[in-house]
Amino acid sequence: MPTAGTPAPRVVLGVSGGIGAYKAVEVCRRLVEAGVHVAPVLTPDALRFVGKTTFSALGSEPAQSSLFEEASPIPHTKLGQSADLVVVAPATADFLARYAAGMGGELLTATLLATRAPVLVCPAMHTEMWEHPSVQENLDTLRRRGVSVVGPEEGALAAGDVGVGRLADPATIVSVALVMLGGRGDLQGRRVAISAGGTREPIDPVRHLSNRSSGKQGHALATAALRRGAEVVLVTTVGRPVAAQPRLSVVRVDTAAEMEAAMAVESDKADVIVMAAAVADFRPRQVATHKLAKDDGVPEIVLEPTPDILCGLVARRRPGQVIVGFAAETGDAVERGRRKFDRKGVDLMVVNDVSAPGAGFDHDTNVVTILTSGGTREVPLSSKEVVADAVLEQVVGLLAGRDGRAGAPRAEED
Ligand code: PMT
Repeated sequence: MPTAGTPAPRVVLGVSGGIGAYKAVEVCRRLVEAGVHVAPVLTPDALRFVGKTTFSALGSEPAQSSLFEEASPIPHTKLGQSADLVVVAPATADFLARYAAGMGGELLTATLLATRAPVLVCPAMHTEMWEHPSVQENLDTLRRRGVSVVGPEEGALAAGDVGVGRLADPATIVSVALVMLGGRGDLQGRRVAISAGGTREPIDPVRHLSNRSSGKQGHALATAALRRGAEVVLVTTVGRPVAAQPRLSVVRVDTAAEMEAAMAVESDKADVIVMAAAVADFRPRQVATHKLAKDDGVPEIVLEPTPDILCGLVARRRPGQVIVGFAAETGDAVERGRRKFDRKGVDLMVVNDVSAPGAGFDHDTNVVTILTSGGTREVPLSSKEVVADAVLEQVVGLLAGRDGRAGAPRAEED
């Protein structure tokens, strides 16, 4: 994450005493992997669940857990003053109460009192505790003071219980933390509208036509754009909630018509449009108002074409706006993608050979070829986050070219 010559951003990773503490190990590892300097701080109760040695080994400096027994006589002020961000995962009900009350009796809460850095808390507890008014009021107090909150999620809890209260996924926590740290900033001041997921075209009240898009590539693009400092609008068909992040708004849609309407609204304000969604090419001409019954025989469903959203967006393009299309292809993918690039009038076409191993629908990885009017850039098998960054690098170059700024990265010439 830090570029050459810039110091790594410093994160104090606070761990309080809940069973989710074991997942903080993964948060620590991922943050360090992203180039962040991590100073782990464990509460005395956290030590009942996880060991300091693990965090010392994975973090960027030895883990600390006491106000009084460390080498430094006043560790909390140094930790608090030097932090660019404090992340607390898990944040238990007890920790939230002490933090909201301004108590500083142990190292983590004392550090929070001594910092002016932004703070992200990730609550985790049993559902009954989470729903208790005192917990919610403490969180409201912290939110009012500018503290960001991620999670909890719904799922399996300790002791076989199931419900809301599970610590947010470590990948989500890290992604929000990186956005809060501000990232590279080369899309700062830019508005980026991204579509994601497969549209669902209803047949009757219980059935629809759709495709295998998971939305992972579109959501990775949104996260990457946020990290680069953009204001992001994510128009998505994906039902699972997207973690609240600064500078992100999410519009939930189902059908191609809904996606078309949402993207049209966003296109009037966006500097960049990325259509990563797999939009249905056809939809049932008529939607049955009642569930089609088996007893009535096999229905004949007549299809009609959906609007081509991308072509519509190109037709109404604002001056200077950069428009990116994706092309899901098989066979001679690049050749077919190049024809689509010419036909649709986009600035970039990301050709996705969905028959390549590990590429395309639902995978965490992808393989793409980015086409511009001047060249081609191959991105070999990589995570969808890496693919997203490669696409945005090209977008930044095009924007800079249009602004007349130097330093535009370009695809290699053919
Ligand atoms: O969501 P994932 O599981 O992570 O998978 C990612 C992906 C494979 C869906 C993604 O990488 C991808 O390739 N998206 C485009 C899929 C697609 O619909 O391709 P297409 O070749 O049919 O369409 C070309 C372009 O036109 C796309 O930008 C598409 O959004 C757009 N389109 C298509 C049809 C239509 N009616 N309106 C459109 O705007």
